[in-house]
Amino acid sequence: MSEGDREVRIAAADLPPPGRIAMVEIGRHRIGVMRLGEEIHALADRCPHRGGPLCSSGQIVTSIERRPDGTLDLGPEGALIRCPWHKWDFDIATGTCPVDGHMRVRTYAVRRDGHGVVVSLDRTPGGV
Ligand code: FES
Repeated sequence: MSEGDREVRIAAADLPPPGRIAMVEIGRHRIGVMRLGEEIHALADRCPHRGGPLCSSGQIVTSIERRPDGTLDLGPEGALIRCPWHKWDFDIATGTCPVDGHMRVRTYAVRRDGHGVVVSLDRTPGGV
């Protein structure tokens, strides 16, 4: 990893496998980097509920969703991160909480750089 004032580069070999989280820092920002399918996303290590260590101590989980007919099914595999403090879940791709649209984790911009990625403090949402 290489770091600058506003961004950090992560080599392909250092990117986390599905279900794992790589922690990076840009200045005072602690950021969790995670893979969702072929995409890489970056979220703040701070839960919007009460400030828990969402990424450094959280867990990537799969949601259980209710179908229109009332039966249950699994959602996209590993698409949520669960806070260790009060177990709220957040969507890795958007930072939103599925049960409370007002709760949102800060997301960081991610762009491809060769085989690796660059995470920056830009507020541009979404991963790559
Ligand atoms: S601090 Fe994360 S769910 Fe409460």
